[in-house]
Amino acid sequence: MVITHRPRRLREDPRLRRMVRENGFTPRNLVLPLFIVPGEGVERPVSAMPGVSQLSADRALPLARRAQESGLGGVILFGIPPHKDAEGSASWSENGVVQNATRKIREAVPDLYVIADLCLCEYTDHAHCGVLRQGRVDNDATLERLGRQAISLAEAGVDMLAPSGMMDGMVGYLRDHLDQAGRTDLPILSYAVKYASAYYGPFREAAENTPSSGDRQGYQMDPANRREALKEAALDEAQGADMLMVKPGLPYLDILRELRDRTNLPLAVYNVSGEYAMVKAAAAQGWIDERRVVLETLTAFRRAGADLILTYHALDAVGFLR
Ligand code: PBG
Ligand code: ZN
Repeated sequence: MVITHRPRRLREDPRLRRMVRENGFTPRNLVLPLFIVPGEGVERPVSAMPGVSQLSADRALPLARRAQESGLGGVILFGIPPHKDAEGSASWSENGVVQNATRKIREAVPDLYVIADLCLCEYTDHAHCGVLRQGRVDNDATLERLGRQAISLAEAGVDMLAPSGMMDGMVGYLRDHLDQAGRTDLPILSYAVKYASAYYGPFREAAENTPSSGDRQGYQMDPANRREALKEAALDEAQGADMLMVKPGLPYLDILRELRDRTNLPLAVYNVSGEYAMVKAAAAQGWIDERRVVLETLTAFRRAGADLILTYHALDAVGFLR
């Protein structure tokens, strides 16, 4: 018997296997999401996300420090305001919860890269990602509010804005708005391809943004669609996005791969709350090996084409790498 090709030759010696490994991740590829609440000394665990808490800005500082010391790419901030209204006006308040936290983090951990999620859903009393007119999200009226939020966050000193509301024309509007305010330097990471996903379940507890009526299917994408993802990504690229995101992660690796082949922009992926919760729940039962599952999952995102991975596992993953 003549076997010409024996791929196993490259696998059996661990020293060689390491040499021919194609993908992996380092801490700088990871971004840690933080949920900021008003007040001081507040630390409220999110029940469906073991290891994740809502934190007041002072309590977020130790994590910000750890993120910096671990060499993470950065953090992304979500804010839960003290008061919500129909317009989401707390999102553009000079003393907004994310604005204040940004200034505190800037001061305490000056080198940490701070990304701000940009959306209205944590700030509106109905929890939709935009303002409502006759029960539906009014796209263009929402853009105007997002513009105010963008300027306010920029003034507070964030390093990057990540608009997540899936409004039409959002990236172009924000780019123009920032440019006109003299902030041509501020990059936009667009949640370009965001599906209406059941995997966001635990996040809605963390961010307190469950819609009081209806759902987000009027603006987030149908999980069945692939071409639409390519269209959304192309639109955001044309409107000046600096980086594109696919969200959620694991169920949409095919989309990530395809975007990698079509755009030269850096790509991010959001390993969302439901993906995290499933791993934590199974690991707690002893049904899976958490360390190996996390390393395999984050490597899969890199293999599929992600430069940046937003993940609640970020700090654990740095430990697992060692
Ligand atoms: C809303 C937003 C969501 C997430 C980030 N920003 C979800 C939603 O549409 O309710 C989800 C993140 C996660 O599940 O980890 N703009
Ligand atoms: Zn939103």
